[in-house]
Amino acid sequence: MPARLSLADQRILVTGGTGFLGRHVLAELRRRGAERVFYPGSQVYDLTRPEQVRRLFAAVQPEVVLHLAAVVGGIGANREQPGRFFYENAIMGLEVMEQARRSGCTRFVTIGTICSYPRLTPVPFQERHLWDGYPEETNAPYGLAKKMLLVQGQAYRQQYGFDAIHLLMVNLYGPHDNFDPQSSHVIPAIIRKCLTARAQGRRQITLWGTGTATREFLFVEDAACAIVDAAENYHSAEPVNIGSGHEISIRALAEKIAALCGFDGDILWDAGKPDGQPRRCLDVSRAREQFGFTAQTSLDEGLRRTIDWYRRLGAE
Ligand SMILES: NC(=O)c1ccc[n+]([C@@H]2O[C@H](COP(=O)([O-])OP(=O)(O)OC[C@H]3O[C@@H](n4cnc5c(N)ncnc54)[C@H](OP(=O)(O)O)[C@@H]3O)[C@@H](O)[C@H]2O)c1
Repeated sequence: MPARLSLADQRILVTGGTGFLGRHVLAELRRRGAERVFYPGSQVYDLTRPEQVRRLFAAVQPEVVLHLAAVVGGIGANREQPGRFFYENAIMGLEVMEQARRSGCTRFVTIGTICSYPRLTPVPFQERHLWDGYPEETNAPYGLAKKMLLVQGQAYRQQYGFDAIHLLMVNLYGPHDNFDPQSSHVIPAIIRKCLTARAQGRRQITLWGTGTATREFLFVEDAACAIVDAAENYHSAEPVNIGSGHEISIRALAEKIAALCGFDGDILWDAGKPDGQPRRCLDVSRAREQFGFTAQTSLDEGLRRTIDWYRRLGAE
């Protein structure tokens, strides 16, 4: 096995470094002493354009690539733009990994997703069940595009000895999350609805689905820590789940958020809207065993910090 690699000494490219997870990864890299970190946004290099990906690698010449760039969103956004979610996520990953390999980069980390798992995976999801069926249809184009990058990394490791790893990331939340109602994930969507209703004196909010689906959530600072830990210490073709290992129903989550936001009105459920995958919770033992990662932030603490951050924005 290759020796532990300290990222502090490396020339690092973080694609998607301007995004929600990206800014926390940059903070974690800074905390660990990395100084040569590059993270141009899509305005500078559009990674869906192969010639721009080539120019980026010629300009930066990274030793390590953390590939976070993606088109991301909740169920609504995935259902409205399945073609874009498939094409852009696939093409960005394919081109970025190909140029990384060609340019002699020594480590490559792909941020994959829990959406790659089959719809009815036994809970908790173990990595060995990843290929046992088709994903939940509301997020299949996104999940499968990302899953192809796992295959790409494994094929490149086999043929070229390229040290690519793939992290299957659970749903994230935290400060700097996307609170845009058109594209946000479930936690910022519920926070926003509760705080808006409270500010406007409304006694009801309506949420998507039945509330019975379950999810697992990971605080974004923990996710950033896991990525850097894996980049430094994990060298295998096998994908790794990254999560907190705690499952909660959307109904219980909504009640918890409402209480933390001080909203004591009624929560109505619009069962005409999709629930998405029925249950989601990862087995997180491989990450713990292989590179010592365990999530540190409880859901209550993480939600409190997220709500405080959003309140400080003065948004509601
Ligand atoms: N958020 C979650 O709950 C979650 C869960 C599992 C996995 N993930 C994965 O984590 C990663 C980061 O997600 P996120 O939530 O941080 O997303 P985000 O906030 O939407 O950030 C997306 C990033 O990708 C970049 N990007 C998008 N299109 C690009 C293009 N054509 N060219 C260059 N850069 C482009 C964006 O750059 P600009 O801002 O400059 O356009 C931005 O930096 C993604 O790979 C996602 O699949 C996220």
